[in-house]
Amino acid sequence: MMKKIKEAADFIRGKGVEKPEIGIILGTGLGNLANDVQVEISIEYKDIPHFPLSTVESHSGKLLYGNLGGKKVLVMSGRFHFYEGYSLQEVTFPVRVMKMLGVNYLFVSNAAGAINLDLPKASLMIIDDHINMLPGNPLVGKNLDELGPRFPDMSQPYDAELILKMEKIAAEKGIKINKGVYVAWIGPNMETRAEYRFIKVMGADAVGMSTVPEVIVANHMGMKVAAVSVITDGCDPDNLEPANIDDIIHNAMTAEKDLVLLFESLIQEL
Ligand code: HPA
Repeated sequence: MMKKIKEAADFIRGKGVEKPEIGIILGTGLGNLANDVQVEISIEYKDIPHFPLSTVESHSGKLLYGNLGGKKVLVMSGRFHFYEGYSLQEVTFPVRVMKMLGVNYLFVSNAAGAINLDLPKASLMIIDDHINMLPGNPLVGKNLDELGPRFPDMSQPYDAELILKMEKIAAEKGIKINKGVYVAWIGPNMETRAEYRFIKVMGADAVGMSTVPEVIVANHMGMKVAAVSVITDGCDPDNLEPANIDDIIHNAMTAEKDLVLLFESLIQEL
């Protein structure tokens, strides 16, 4: 595993990527931030050794390196999901590679459904904690001692200082924002009414199919994480409407301006 991580990092370095400070992973329908990056280098996932390939249509599958908010960023335009058939080690492989390249901050976005019905559609939710309900954990197996401890702490997986900064920026810029707990569910089907009831009882505010594996691995390696959900639909078990993927993507795109503004401002402040 270490050898594969190093080979991928060497390949990316060989393309001219130098000292990226911030890694960014963009969620479904949330690729627009990439347009604001002054891209210097663009690498297709399929060219990077040992990188999995993105299969979801609305994901473009490129690693972008360039300037954003005055910093060097490495953007994953298109992420890997467990439901696509990748192992959790594959899903999180790019985060390992980012750290190997020197990235110490990881910013993540995703599209999520509102379990807490006070969260409006097309609004943002800062993730301040998570529940891993995927059937596995990316850290299972031999520990990569070079990268982090066998039993990593998870008492504060989302950096408190970054959360405070995001709340301040949102208040200044008039961005509607909430804070809550994200649960990662396996998918790819949307959940049943009974599952939404169960998810609410377990203490989640929003549900999605990503983010948690990457955040676990980032914490394992001591990276500082900020993550934001874009609320795309309501998950009210007592009034559940059939899920409409076009609506979900539309709501993601509506909220995206706010997300881009938030992440760019946060990067400027680092
Ligand atoms: N579940 C329900 N609604 C959603 C999800 C999900 O995983 N992702 C985006 N909206």
